[in-house]
Amino acid sequence: MNPNLSRLQPYPFEKLAALMRDIEPPAERAAIALSIGEPKHATPAFIANALVAHVHQLASYPSTRGLPELRQAIADWLGRRFGLGPSGIDAQTQVLPVNGTREALFAFAQAMIDPRADALVLMPNPFYQIYEGAALLAGASPYLLPCTEQTQWLPDIESVPEAIWKRCQLLYICSPGNPTGAVMDQARLMRLIELAQRHDFIIAADECYAELYLDEANPPPGLLQAAAALGLDDYRRCVCFHSLSKRSNAPGLRSGFVAGDARLVEPFFQYRTYHGCAMPLQHQQASLLAWQDEAHVIENRRRYREKFDAVSAILDGVLAFSIPPAGFYLWPRTPIPDTDFARRLFAEQNLRVLPGRFLSRAGEQGDPGLNHIRMALVPPLADCIEAAQRIRAVCEGL
Ligand SMILES: Cc1ncc(COP(=O)(O)O)c(C=O)c1O
Repeated sequence: MNPNLSRLQPYPFEKLAALMRDIEPPAERAAIALSIGEPKHATPAFIANALVAHVHQLASYPSTRGLPELRQAIADWLGRRFGLGPSGIDAQTQVLPVNGTREALFAFAQAMIDPRADALVLMPNPFYQIYEGAALLAGASPYLLPCTEQTQWLPDIESVPEAIWKRCQLLYICSPGNPTGAVMDQARLMRLIELAQRHDFIIAADECYAELYLDEANPPPGLLQAAAALGLDDYRRCVCFHSLSKRSNAPGLRSGFVAGDARLVEPFFQYRTYHGCAMPLQHQQASLLAWQDEAHVIENRRRYREKFDAVSAILDGVLAFSIPPAGFYLWPRTPIPDTDFARRLFAEQNLRVLPGRFLSRAGEQGDPGLNHIRMALVPPLADCIEAAQRIRAVCEGL
């Protein structure tokens, strides 16, 4: 068996189930889960209808490269969203559809890493656990970049030693971040791109929350946008990952894309033909329409904004938190240890949240997830309000 399998950690939700195993929550309180970051707003009907209208395409094998018209719709969207300019992005060589960013973020490391003994994959801490598993199964070691209040919840890239950059083969970044919602500005992205050129590593930018932001006039910048601003119009050493799961409330469609440097996209394509993960044609047809429409995404953002406003007003004064510029998570500090707080919320209020330590690892400077919880504002507004009131009640009873 692959010995690296034993290096994998249980997934956060397994840890949560174990933490809550002995608790009988109060039956008179309806269960509310803020623990899982699964979008719950309805998938727009036009996406579901397109899926049904093309279901006869089940009779054909899809190609790994994807339909040219889907890749073109994605390239057009990237150009519009990130202002990529006249050279834009080439739908033939710089874009591939993927079955959601999770599989692609994982598979990308398998295709890109040279598993030498000193191979490092750098990633934020706390993180989306797929980055860690991808690094381990690719035969590399994860190197964690703490994201704390002191670092504005972003990796402190200037503190990374030169010797570490030299061993870095791949850097995962997540902006807007899960769980903190922190956004990297263009200057920071440009600095990372310069480091990638100098030390010859690849940047994999997980941008699956890039379409959920609070200020309509201020969308989070993307990695390709920063590369273009540096004049790197081949996006050298840069790829970004986007998804319809959060943007279009379609996590079950399993649809996203990878885009960027053709010298990376092409070998990733080759890997994927062997891996056998082409997107079903009816999913490609539905995705094509989703990338062409913005109205449903604007409405989606409005609904998250409404939830952030309501929840933060209720929690103000009982928990320490800042409203993030993007994403759909709150990342408050807890008044008692995070696992104890999560257990009390479940035991007293039938409310599930994720302890921060389940999303992080202890490092030399401590564990940046300790004494935080992640609250995913995905249930309906009324449930988010009810959840915030229950948290307030527990805090007031401490
Ligand atoms: C940071 C981050 N990246 C990637 C994903 C995967 O999303 P999907 O595979 O649905 O595109 C998630 C899902 O929760 C996430 O939080």
